[in-house]
Amino acid sequence: MLMNRAEIGLVNSPPRCWLQRIYEVPVLLRFGGRLLPGTPALEIGCGSGYGLELILERFGAGTADAVDLDPAMIHRAGRRLARYGDRVRLAQGSATDLRTALDADDDSYGGVFDFGIVHHIQDWRKAIAEVARVIAPGGRFYFEEVTSHALARPIYRRLFDHPTDDRFSAEQFLDELAHHGLVVLGSLTRIQGDYLLGAATKPVPTGGER
Ligand SMILES: C[S@@+](CC[C@H](N)C(=O)[O-])C[C@H]1O[C@@H](n2cnc3c(N)ncnc32)[C@H](O)[C@@H]1O
Repeated sequence: MLMNRAEIGLVNSPPRCWLQRIYEVPVLLRFGGRLLPGTPALEIGCGSGYGLELILERFGAGTADAVDLDPAMIHRAGRRLARYGDRVRLAQGSATDLRTALDADDDSYGGVFDFGIVHHIQDWRKAIAEVARVIAPGGRFYFEEVTSHALARPIYRRLFDHPTDDRFSAEQFLDELAHHGLVVLGSLTRIQGDYLLGAATKPVPTGGER
């Protein structure tokens, strides 16, 4: 589901970028570590592209692909990230179908990033399944999510547009990762369970499994 005007304003505001840079990135790095040099990364729901700068500069990704449902966001991200040239590839499409959007094969990315997007997707389990499919064995999934607890608050319901049924708690989100074979390296919740941050990995198969 696309963001409404209020959320576009909030997500692109300097305080939100500051929070992402000063608080979220260090937490995600603490749980998942930096990527190995040259690692290809993917951001689902890149918005206007600030997270992609952080993925390249702070997490050390070699290249970054990104998908967003909103063509206006892809346009904004393209302008913001022009200086990275072909290290960045942007596509309009859905995180629930990365093959169509980015021609993404299984096991393609050493790092996959979710900065607050999965709660926007009605079929959020399909998005998790896609993340688990495209992440490479040994790769990292970094996530920052808004739970059903936050979405039920009157302020969220009045100000923003989100799918209303089948939302996830922090526990349900983590369970879904495990259901797709991802192993959580660490996570935390903030503000009475409103927000979930963490990192998970796709285990490297041991001899004979692949
Ligand atoms: C809350 S914003 C977060 C944007 C960015 N990750 C950030 O942290 O600034 C959610 C983004 O997800 C996008 N989005 C919503 N549903 C999507 C889907 N099914 N596939 C890809 N992107 C989607 C929206 O267009 C929006 O840009």
